[in-house]
Amino acid sequence: MAKRERPGVERYHDRVAGIYDTIYEGNPYWEMVFTLTWRHVRKVLPAEQSIRCLDVGCGTGRWGLKLWKSGYATDFLDISRKMLDQVERKLARDFPSNDARILHTGLDDLSELPSAAYGFVIGQGDPLCSAQRPERAFKELTRILAPGGVLMMSVDNTLAGVRHFFREEDLPGLKRFLKTGRTHWVTDAEEEQYPIKTFTPDEIRAWCAGRGLELLSLIGKTALPLRRYQALLKDRASRETLLRLEESLHAKEAMLGGAAHLEFAARKPAVASG
Ligand SMILES: C[S@@+](CC[C@H](N)C(=O)[O-])C[C@H]1O[C@@H](n2cnc3c(N)ncnc32)[C@H](O)[C@@H]1O
Repeated sequence: MAKRERPGVERYHDRVAGIYDTIYEGNPYWEMVFTLTWRHVRKVLPAEQSIRCLDVGCGTGRWGLKLWKSGYATDFLDISRKMLDQVERKLARDFPSNDARILHTGLDDLSELPSAAYGFVIGQGDPLCSAQRPERAFKELTRILAPGGVLMMSVDNTLAGVRHFFREEDLPGLKRFLKTGRTHWVTDAEEEQYPIKTFTPDEIRAWCAGRGLELLSLIGKTALPLRRYQALLKDRASRETLLRLEESLHAKEAMLGGAAHLEFAARKPAVASG
């Protein structure tokens, strides 16, 4: 049988899976991002622990494993088999009697997942952006949400992406990018580059409204320039101050444009309207 051609996004993540966790370990900026993310999760995560959760683009399982630790049974989905191997290893070590489903598929094919199955679906690290057909993937994500279920995703921010085209002095590219939000994720290895779809805040609002989801929260991640000034995050007291400031600002419309990523949480109506 002919070997399946892996898309660039899968190849890249297969290659880095074994070292993925170490890339972020001990980095004060990423530690802050993870803290902010989990605090955001806790605001929108349904309280009933009887729901089933799904971590899409789960990578090495950071968020799904945290959900297991918090008492929520969670399934894991990723386009990269090597990432899922990491998840399986950690699940066996930390939750030996788990019944997690491990789904090796992309967001472009959620057909094996039942409708209305999940009370919470989380997608961190922007997996929706690298779906080949993001709008269809979004529709599928809303299909698998249970009534009252919450979808929480991070995405690349179009408004922040414009800087790249200024650096390159690429005006035609800028115009194209602003029209479609589409660009390329660039790695050194050409065969690992892949197309991505970035989002504006208005697009997120429109996509949620278009699928009948109630937008619970939309934040910039990060709203303050914490990545550039991460030395400030090494000191505990200033880290605490910046965490509070970031949270006081990150949902403000005026702050969304400067954030590299946007993160939203949206709820499916508990009872179908009409
Ligand atoms: C930046 S990593 C984030 C991993 C994890 N969610 C985290 O926050 O640590 C993105 C993950 O999404 C997966 N991914 C990217 N595009 C995907 C797609 N279209 N469908 C499913 N998984 C995808 C990648 O293989 C990778 O594991």
